Amino acid sequence: MTEQNPDLERILIPTDVIQKRVQEMAAQINKDFANIDRLYMIGILKGAFIFMADLTRHLTIPHVVDFMALSSYGKTTTIGEVRILMDLREPIDGQHVMIVEDIVDSGITLKYLYKILKDRNPASLHTCVLVRKKRDNGGFPFDYVGFEIPDVWVVGYGLDFADRYRTLPYVAELKREVYNP
Ligand code: IMP
Ligand code: MG
Repeated sequence: MTEQNPDLERILIPTDVIQKRVQEMAAQINKDFANIDRLYMIGILKGAFIFMADLTRHLTIPHVVDFMALSSYGKTTTIGEVRILMDLREPIDGQHVMIVEDIVDSGITLKYLYKILKDRNPASLHTCVLVRKKRDNGGFPFDYVGFEIPDVWVVGYGLDFADRYRTLPYVAELKREVYNP
């Protein structure tokens, strides 16, 4: 691994562990939403595209798939200003909505998005994140969390550093000197 990717410190979550957990999360969602008409799945681009694809293919309940793209500023200082780059194709009022996000760090992005979508009057609004960093996430309550990881920079399975490494099949920790030189 290190021969191919000298910037990686170590694999944090191996491919088979991710796949198993994603299946479990989908099973839980299938159970929890067994009685609704359909679930409106919203993936947050770009990071959630792989998680979203795997998760939704394990859903047996009726669902639709949509995406939003956000851009955040002040990431390193966590000042947190978030802008919608691409919005949903349909209104979500009266819909049961699930936000699907790759990772929660400060929690600012999800908190902001949650408020925006809540104001559109969905029938219900839940959040599903693959990875949560063990740190202050702004006191945000997440409904479905795949993994808790240390407060390090991770890449792979959709997650990037400067738009690289997204398509690695596992989640790996980036060497500190790469992201914090
Ligand atoms: P938050 O608003 O601080 O929670 O940041 C969430 C966003 O920051 C995520 O959607 C990612 O795009 C990005 N992010 C935060 N930590 C990482 C990481 O370790 N690897 C890759 N992206 C990250
Ligand atoms: Mg993201």
